[in-house]
Amino acid sequence: MKKLFALLIAVSLVSAVATLVIADSNAPAEIQYPTKLGTITFNHLSHESRTDCASCHSAVQGIEDKQRKDAFHGLCISCHKEQQQGPTSCKDCHVK
Ligand code: HEC
Ligand code: HEC
Ligand code: HEC
Repeated sequence: MKKLFALLIAVSLVSAVATLVIADSNAPAEIQYPTKLGTITFNHLSHESRTDCASCHSAVQGIEDKQRKDAFHGLCISCHKEQQQGPTSCKDCHVK
């Protein structure tokens, strides 16, 4: 009985790890945003560890088009200023 219990725990741990890996591999490595001022290249992979997934996603997902600029600037530029790392000037993000 003890052995069976241990086996069940081992199986559920393995599937929990597998689920995490699958969830992460759905994330794009890089996202490009073409705008009139130039294209923004957002390295999703390198940003994943900078804060928790939800605090970024809730800031930009499900917003209307006319709110996109303010929502993205709010999310992206605020953190770069706060951490004194990452681009804060227009042309360093919007690259022609
Ligand atoms: C620094 C901010 C940030 C962090 C942290 C972050 N993401 Fe994202 N993620 C984004 C942005 C921005 C997009 C693109 C959304 C858009 O353009 O509408 C995106 C898109 C995605 C997508 C593509 C589908 C979709 O919803 O648009 C997946 C999947 C995803 N992220 C998963 C994750 C996971 C899992 C984590 C945590 C391990 C994570 N992200 C952390 C900013 C972030
Ligand atoms: C929670 C903090 C945080 C958020 C939110 C964030 N960034 Fe960053 N970003 C950083 C840091 C820290 C760096 C510096 C990385 C380095 O120099 O190694 C960086 C670097 C960058 C760079 C320089 C190239 C690179 O990938 O290292 C670009 C471009 C960039 N960020 C774009 C964005 C965009 C676009 C968003 C919004 C969708 C965003 N960032 C949101 C923290 C953040
Ligand atoms: C950290 C990166 C970053 C910086 C710095 C930045 N932007 Fe942006 N900007 C973005 C992102 C991301 C979007 C959203 C693009 C989208 O909606 O597809 C955006 C959207 C815009 C838009 C709307 C473009 C369109 O075609 O819908 C304008 C205009 C704009 N930014 C101007 C500026 C100006 C002016 C500055 C400097 C004062 C600036 N941005 C600095 C990342 C940045």
